[in-house]
Amino acid sequence: MPRSRRTSPLDQGSCNIGKLIFTILIGIAGGAAIAASPAPLLQSIWWTADGAETDAATTKASTCLAFDPQDADRVKAGMALFNTPSLLGGQAAKAGLNCNSCHDNGRDNRHFYVEGLSSTPGTADVTSSFFSILRGNAVKDPVVIPDLANPGKISRAADDQILERFIRTLIVEEFSGKEPNQSTLSALATYVRAIRKCDGAQIIDRRLDDQLQLVDAAIGGALAMHRSGENATALILVRAARHQLGLIDERYSAPRFKAERSALLDSSRQLQDIAEAQNADLFNPALTLWHEQFTANLVPRLRAGERHSLYTRKKFRAAWKQVPKPGL
Ligand code: HEC
Repeated sequence: MPRSRRTSPLDQGSCNIGKLIFTILIGIAGGAAIAASPAPLLQSIWWTADGAETDAATTKASTCLAFDPQDADRVKAGMALFNTPSLLGGQAAKAGLNCNSCHDNGRDNRHFYVEGLSSTPGTADVTSSFFSILRGNAVKDPVVIPDLANPGKISRAADDQILERFIRTLIVEEFSGKEPNQSTLSALATYVRAIRKCDGAQIIDRRLDDQLQLVDAAIGGALAMHRSGENATALILVRAARHQLGLIDERYSAPRFKAERSALLDSSRQLQDIAEAQNADLFNPALTLWHEQFTANLVPRLRAGERHSLYTRKKFRAAWKQVPKPGL
Protein backbone atom coordinates (compact mmCIF):
# COMPACT_ATOMS: atom_id res chain seq x y z
CA MET A 1 0.00 0.00 0.00
CA PRO A 2 1.51 3.37 -0.90
CA ARG A 3 2.17 5.46 2.16
CA SER A 4 0.59 8.85 2.38
CA ARG A 5 2.80 11.65 1.20
CA ARG A 6 4.22 14.08 3.63
CA THR A 7 2.98 17.59 3.34
CA SER A 8 4.19 20.58 5.28
CA PRO A 9 6.28 20.86 8.42
CA LEU A 10 5.31 23.73 10.66
CA ASP A 11 8.79 25.08 10.88
CA GLN A 12 12.40 24.00 11.14
CA GLY A 13 12.08 23.36 14.84
CA SER A 14 9.52 20.66 14.26
CA CYS A 15 11.84 18.29 12.43
CA ASN A 16 11.81 15.93 15.36
CA ILE A 17 10.87 13.12 13.31
CA GLY A 18 8.47 10.35 13.68
CA LYS A 19 7.72 11.50 17.19
CA LEU A 20 5.52 14.41 16.42
CA ILE A 21 2.90 13.76 13.86
CA PHE A 22 0.29 16.41 13.92
CA THR A 23 -2.12 18.14 11.68
CA ILE A 24 -2.24 21.78 10.91
CA LEU A 25 -4.85 23.52 8.96
CA ILE A 26 -3.49 25.95 6.49
CA GLY A 27 -6.07 28.55 5.63
CA ILE A 28 -5.76 29.66 2.07
CA ALA A 29 -8.05 31.26 -0.45
CA GLY A 30 -10.86 28.89 -1.18
CA GLY A 31 -10.71 27.43 2.30
CA ALA A 32 -8.59 24.45 1.33
CA ALA A 33 -6.98 22.63 4.24
CA ILE A 34 -3.80 20.64 4.17
CA ALA A 35 -2.88 17.94 6.65
CA ALA A 36 0.74 18.29 7.62
CA SER A 37 3.45 16.33 9.29
CA PRO A 38 6.96 17.49 10.04
CA ALA A 39 9.73 16.55 7.65
CA PRO A 40 11.66 13.52 8.83
CA LEU A 41 15.43 13.78 9.47
CA LEU A 42 16.07 16.67 7.14
CA GLN A 43 13.87 19.59 6.29
CA SER A 44 14.49 19.12 2.57
CA ILE A 45 12.98 15.65 2.63
CA TRP A 46 9.58 17.30 2.72
CA TRP A 47 9.70 18.23 -0.96
CA THR A 48 11.14 14.93 -2.13
CA ALA A 49 9.33 12.19 -4.05
CA ASP A 50 8.73 8.95 -2.14
CA GLY A 51 11.62 6.58 -2.61
CA ALA A 52 14.08 9.30 -3.67
CA GLU A 53 14.93 10.49 -0.14
CA THR A 54 18.44 9.02 0.05
CA ASP A 55 19.40 10.32 -3.39
CA ALA A 56 17.96 13.74 -2.68
CA ALA A 57 19.65 13.96 0.72
CA THR A 58 23.09 12.82 -0.38
CA THR A 59 23.51 13.96 -3.99
CA LYS A 60 23.02 17.24 -5.82
CA ALA A 61 23.37 18.81 -9.25
CA SER A 62 26.84 20.16 -10.03
CA THR A 63 27.07 23.83 -10.95
CA CYS A 64 29.84 26.03 -12.25
CA LEU A 65 29.66 29.80 -12.12
CA ALA A 66 30.88 32.25 -14.75
CA PHE A 67 31.00 35.95 -13.89
CA ASP A 68 32.97 39.14 -14.15
CA PRO A 69 35.37 39.34 -11.16
CA GLN A 70 33.93 42.72 -10.22
CA ASP A 71 30.59 40.96 -9.56
CA ALA A 72 32.12 38.39 -7.17
CA ASP A 73 30.54 39.83 -4.00
CA ARG A 74 27.13 40.14 -5.62
CA VAL A 75 27.24 36.57 -6.96
CA LYS A 76 28.16 35.32 -3.48
CA ALA A 77 25.36 37.28 -1.89
CA GLY A 78 22.93 36.09 -4.56
CA MET A 79 23.90 32.46 -4.04
CA ALA A 80 23.29 32.75 -0.30
CA LEU A 81 19.96 34.51 -0.87
CA PHE A 82 18.92 31.85 -3.38
CA ASN A 83 19.25 29.37 -0.50
CA THR A 84 17.32 31.24 2.16
CA PRO A 85 13.63 30.70 2.93
CA SER A 86 13.17 34.07 4.60
CA LEU A 87 13.08 35.70 1.18
CA LEU A 88 9.80 33.98 0.44
CA GLY A 89 6.68 34.45 2.50
CA GLY A 90 3.68 32.51 3.71
CA GLN A 91 3.61 28.75 3.67
CA ALA A 92 6.69 28.48 1.47
CA ALA A 93 8.94 30.16 4.05
CA LYS A 94 7.38 28.27 6.96
CA ALA A 95 8.14 25.00 5.25
CA GLY A 96 11.76 26.09 4.70
CA LEU A 97 11.27 26.27 0.95
CA ASN A 98 13.68 28.46 -0.98
CA CYS A 99 14.73 28.98 -4.60
CA ASN A 100 17.25 26.16 -4.22
CA SER A 101 14.58 23.63 -3.22
CA CYS A 102 13.26 23.62 -6.76
CA HIS A 103 16.40 24.74 -8.59
CA ASP A 104 18.90 22.46 -6.89
CA ASN A 105 22.22 24.30 -6.94
CA GLY A 106 20.63 26.57 -9.54
CA ARG A 107 19.74 23.69 -11.84
CA ASP A 108 16.52 21.64 -11.80
CA ASN A 109 15.39 19.11 -9.20
CA ARG A 110 14.24 15.78 -10.57
CA HIS A 111 13.23 14.62 -7.07
CA PHE A 112 11.02 17.61 -6.20
CA TYR A 113 7.53 16.47 -5.30
CA VAL A 114 4.87 18.11 -3.19
CA GLU A 115 1.37 16.68 -3.22
CA GLY A 116 -1.00 19.18 -4.79
CA LEU A 117 1.83 21.15 -6.38
CA SER A 118 3.53 18.55 -8.56
CA SER A 119 2.10 16.15 -11.14
CA THR A 120 5.25 14.03 -11.39
CA PRO A 121 8.64 14.34 -9.64
CA GLY A 122 10.54 17.33 -11.02
CA THR A 123 7.43 19.46 -11.65
CA ALA A 124 5.83 22.31 -9.71
CA ASP A 125 2.85 24.58 -10.11
CA VAL A 126 4.22 27.97 -9.22
CA THR A 127 0.81 29.59 -9.51
CA SER A 128 -0.71 27.41 -6.83
CA SER A 129 -2.71 29.10 -4.13
CA PHE A 130 -0.81 27.04 -1.60
CA PHE A 131 1.97 29.59 -1.85
CA SER A 132 0.15 32.72 -2.77
CA ILE A 133 -3.31 34.06 -2.44
CA LEU A 134 -2.58 36.78 -4.96
CA ARG A 135 -1.76 34.64 -7.93
CA GLY A 136 -3.43 31.44 -6.97
CA ASN A 137 -5.54 30.18 -9.79
CA ALA A 138 -7.92 27.29 -9.43
CA VAL A 139 -6.20 25.49 -12.29
CA LYS A 140 -3.63 22.81 -11.57
CA ASP A 141 -0.85 23.40 -14.01
CA PRO A 142 2.46 21.97 -12.82
CA VAL A 143 5.32 22.34 -15.30
CA VAL A 144 8.82 20.87 -15.38
CA ILE A 145 11.15 22.89 -13.16
CA PRO A 146 13.64 24.49 -15.57
CA ASP A 147 17.41 24.08 -15.27
CA LEU A 148 18.62 27.67 -14.85
CA ALA A 149 21.93 26.83 -16.57
CA ASN A 150 19.94 26.65 -19.84
CA PRO A 151 18.73 29.70 -21.70
CA GLY A 152 15.01 29.93 -20.93
CA LYS A 153 11.92 32.02 -21.49
CA ILE A 154 13.29 34.85 -19.36
CA SER A 155 16.06 37.03 -20.79
CA ARG A 156 19.35 36.85 -18.86
CA ALA A 157 20.74 40.01 -20.45
CA ALA A 158 22.37 42.25 -17.85
CA ASP A 159 21.07 45.49 -19.35
CA ASP A 160 17.32 44.91 -19.67
CA GLN A 161 16.37 44.13 -16.02
CA ILE A 162 13.85 41.53 -17.20
CA LEU A 163 15.35 38.90 -14.90
CA GLU A 164 15.16 41.25 -11.90
CA ARG A 165 11.50 41.99 -12.66
CA PHE A 166 10.72 38.29 -13.06
CA ILE A 167 12.37 37.39 -9.74
CA ARG A 168 10.51 40.21 -7.99
CA THR A 169 7.20 38.86 -9.30
CA LEU A 170 8.17 35.35 -8.21
CA ILE A 171 8.94 36.48 -4.66
CA VAL A 172 6.03 38.85 -4.16
CA GLU A 173 3.28 37.25 -6.17
CA GLU A 174 4.05 33.55 -6.40
CA PHE A 175 5.46 33.11 -2.92
CA SER A 176 3.79 35.94 -0.94
CA GLY A 177 7.18 37.32 0.11
CA LYS A 178 7.83 40.88 1.25
CA GLU A 179 8.79 43.41 -1.40
CA PRO A 180 12.52 42.74 -1.98
CA ASN A 181 14.84 45.74 -2.18
CA GLN A 182 16.91 46.53 -5.27
CA SER A 183 20.18 45.13 -3.92
CA THR A 184 18.55 41.80 -3.03
CA LEU A 185 17.07 41.52 -6.52
CA SER A 186 20.27 42.56 -8.19
CA ALA A 187 22.29 39.97 -6.21
CA LEU A 188 19.83 37.16 -7.04
CA ALA A 189 19.79 38.08 -10.73
CA THR A 190 23.60 38.33 -10.86
CA TYR A 191 23.85 34.84 -9.38
CA VAL A 192 21.24 33.39 -11.78
CA ARG A 193 23.11 34.92 -14.74
CA ALA A 194 26.30 33.19 -13.58
CA ILE A 195 24.87 29.64 -13.41
CA ARG A 196 26.46 27.22 -15.90
CA LYS A 197 26.73 23.47 -16.41
CA CYS A 198 30.06 21.96 -15.40
CA ASP A 199 31.98 19.56 -17.60
CA GLY A 200 31.99 16.06 -16.19
CA ALA A 201 29.57 14.62 -13.67
CA GLN A 202 26.22 16.41 -13.49
CA ILE A 203 25.27 14.77 -10.19
CA ILE A 204 27.75 14.87 -7.31
CA ASP A 205 27.76 14.10 -3.57
CA ARG A 206 26.46 16.53 -1.00
CA ARG A 207 29.08 17.55 1.53
CA LEU A 208 29.49 19.61 4.67
CA ASP A 209 31.39 21.97 2.36
CA ASP A 210 28.12 22.87 0.59
CA GLN A 211 26.85 24.48 3.79
CA LEU A 212 30.24 25.94 4.75
CA GLN A 213 30.56 27.58 1.34
CA LEU A 214 27.10 29.07 1.72
CA VAL A 215 27.97 30.36 5.21
CA ASP A 216 31.11 31.97 3.74
CA ALA A 217 29.11 33.38 0.83
CA ALA A 218 26.46 34.80 3.18
CA ILE A 219 29.00 36.39 5.53
CA GLY A 220 31.18 37.70 2.68
CA GLY A 221 28.05 39.05 1.00
CA ALA A 222 26.78 40.63 4.23
CA LEU A 223 30.11 42.41 4.82
CA ALA A 224 30.16 43.72 1.25
CA MET A 225 26.53 44.86 1.39
CA HIS A 226 27.12 46.62 4.69
CA ARG A 227 30.21 48.38 3.32
CA SER A 228 28.15 49.77 0.47
CA GLY A 229 25.31 50.87 2.74
CA GLU A 230 22.88 48.11 1.71
CA ASN A 231 22.11 47.26 5.31
CA ALA A 232 18.72 45.59 4.87
CA THR A 233 20.26 43.03 2.51
CA ALA A 234 23.20 42.55 4.89
CA LEU A 235 20.72 41.55 7.61
CA ILE A 236 18.92 39.08 5.33
CA LEU A 237 22.32 37.57 4.58
CA VAL A 238 23.07 37.07 8.28
CA ARG A 239 19.77 35.17 8.45
CA ALA A 240 20.89 33.19 5.39
CA ALA A 241 24.06 32.15 7.26
CA ARG A 242 22.00 31.10 10.29
CA HIS A 243 19.77 29.00 8.04
CA GLN A 244 22.84 27.12 6.82
CA LEU A 245 23.96 26.50 10.42
CA GLY A 246 20.53 24.94 10.98
CA LEU A 247 21.05 22.65 7.98
CA ILE A 248 24.41 21.52 9.40
CA ASP A 249 22.76 20.90 12.76
CA GLU A 250 20.22 18.52 11.15
CA ARG A 251 23.03 16.44 9.70
CA TYR A 252 24.81 16.17 13.06
CA SER A 253 21.81 14.83 14.94
CA ALA A 254 23.57 11.75 16.39
CA PRO A 255 24.13 11.86 20.18
CA ARG A 256 27.93 11.86 19.68
CA PHE A 257 27.62 15.39 18.24
CA LYS A 258 26.00 16.95 21.30
CA ALA A 259 28.89 19.38 21.84
CA GLU A 260 29.07 20.39 18.17
CA ARG A 261 25.33 21.04 18.08
CA SER A 262 25.46 23.20 21.14
CA ALA A 263 28.39 25.14 19.60
CA LEU A 264 26.33 25.57 16.41
CA LEU A 265 23.45 26.94 18.43
CA ASP A 266 25.75 29.37 20.24
CA SER A 267 27.22 30.49 16.91
CA SER A 268 23.76 31.08 15.54
CA ARG A 269 22.76 33.12 18.60
CA GLN A 270 25.89 35.22 18.27
CA LEU A 271 24.90 36.00 14.68
CA GLN A 272 21.47 37.00 15.88
CA ASP A 273 23.04 39.36 18.45
CA ILE A 274 25.26 40.90 15.77
CA ALA A 275 22.23 41.46 13.53
CA GLU A 276 20.22 43.02 16.35
CA ALA A 277 22.98 45.26 17.74
CA GLN A 278 22.08 48.93 17.53
CA ASN A 279 25.55 50.27 16.75
CA ALA A 280 26.01 49.89 12.99
CA ASP A 281 29.74 50.67 13.23
CA LEU A 282 30.28 47.39 15.06
CA PHE A 283 28.55 45.26 12.44
CA ASN A 284 31.53 44.57 10.16
CA PRO A 285 34.17 44.06 12.90
CA ALA A 286 31.83 41.80 14.90
CA LEU A 287 30.84 39.74 11.86
CA THR A 288 34.48 39.42 10.73
CA LEU A 289 35.48 38.21 14.20
CA TRP A 290 32.56 35.76 14.28
CA HIS A 291 33.64 34.34 10.93
CA GLU A 292 37.28 33.96 12.00
CA GLN A 293 36.28 32.15 15.18
CA PHE A 294 33.75 29.92 13.42
CA THR A 295 36.35 28.96 10.80
CA ALA A 296 39.14 28.37 13.34
CA ASN A 297 37.19 26.61 16.10
CA LEU A 298 34.03 24.94 14.89
CA VAL A 299 34.76 24.09 11.24
CA PRO A 300 37.64 21.68 12.02
CA ARG A 301 35.45 19.82 14.54
CA LEU A 302 32.63 19.53 12.02
CA ARG A 303 35.00 18.31 9.34
CA ALA A 304 36.44 15.71 11.70
CA GLY A 305 32.94 14.32 12.32
CA GLU A 306 31.61 14.50 8.77
CA ARG A 307 32.05 10.79 8.07
CA HIS A 308 29.72 10.01 10.99
CA SER A 309 27.12 12.58 9.96
CA LEU A 310 24.02 12.34 7.77
CA TYR A 311 26.05 13.79 4.89
CA THR A 312 27.23 10.26 4.15
CA ARG A 313 24.97 7.99 2.17
CA LYS A 314 25.47 5.07 4.53
CA LYS A 315 24.55 7.01 7.67
CA PHE A 316 21.62 8.71 6.03
CA ARG A 317 20.22 5.46 4.67
CA ALA A 318 20.52 3.77 8.07
CA ALA A 319 18.82 6.68 9.83
CA TRP A 320 16.08 6.86 7.20
CA LYS A 321 15.30 3.17 7.73
CA GLN A 322 14.52 3.92 11.37
CA VAL A 323 11.98 6.63 10.53
CA PRO A 324 8.41 5.36 10.91
CA LYS A 325 6.66 5.67 7.56
CA PRO A 326 3.02 6.65 7.83
CA GLY A 327 0.71 4.30 5.96
CA LEU A 328 3.06 1.34 5.97
C1 HEC B 1 8.16 25.47 -6.04
C2 HEC B 1 9.30 25.39 -6.95
C3 HEC B 1 10.03 26.67 -7.33
C4 HEC B 1 10.62 27.58 -6.49
C5 HEC B 1 10.63 27.58 -4.96
C6 HEC B 1 11.28 28.56 -7.34
N1 HEC B 1 11.08 28.23 -8.65
FE1 HEC B 1 11.90 29.19 -10.23
N2 HEC B 1 10.71 28.10 -11.46
C7 HEC B 1 9.94 27.02 -11.10
C8 HEC B 1 9.17 26.57 -12.25
C9 HEC B 1 8.19 25.40 -12.28
C10 HEC B 1 9.51 27.44 -13.32
C11 HEC B 1 8.94 27.41 -14.74
C12 HEC B 1 7.72 28.31 -14.80
C13 HEC B 1 7.11 28.38 -16.17
O1 HEC B 1 7.74 27.93 -17.14
O2 HEC B 1 6.01 28.92 -16.23
C14 HEC B 1 10.51 28.38 -12.78
C15 HEC B 1 11.12 29.36 -13.54
C16 HEC B 1 12.18 30.16 -13.10
C17 HEC B 1 12.99 31.03 -13.93
C18 HEC B 1 12.81 31.24 -15.42
C19 HEC B 1 13.63 30.27 -16.20
C20 HEC B 1 13.47 30.54 -17.69
O3 HEC B 1 12.68 29.85 -18.32
O4 HEC B 1 14.15 31.44 -18.20
C21 HEC B 1 13.92 31.64 -13.11
C22 HEC B 1 14.98 32.64 -13.50
C23 HEC B 1 13.64 31.17 -11.78
N3 HEC B 1 12.60 30.26 -11.80
C24 HEC B 1 14.33 31.59 -10.65
C25 HEC B 1 13.87 31.34 -9.35
C26 HEC B 1 14.30 32.08 -8.18
C27 HEC B 1 15.32 33.21 -8.15
C28 HEC B 1 13.59 31.56 -7.12
C29 HEC B 1 13.57 32.03 -5.67
C30 HEC B 1 13.15 33.41 -5.47
C31 HEC B 1 12.76 30.48 -7.64
N4 HEC B 1 12.94 30.39 -9.01
C32 HEC B 1 11.96 29.66 -6.86
C33 HEC B 1 9.90 26.45 -9.84
C34 HEC B 1 10.32 27.09 -8.69
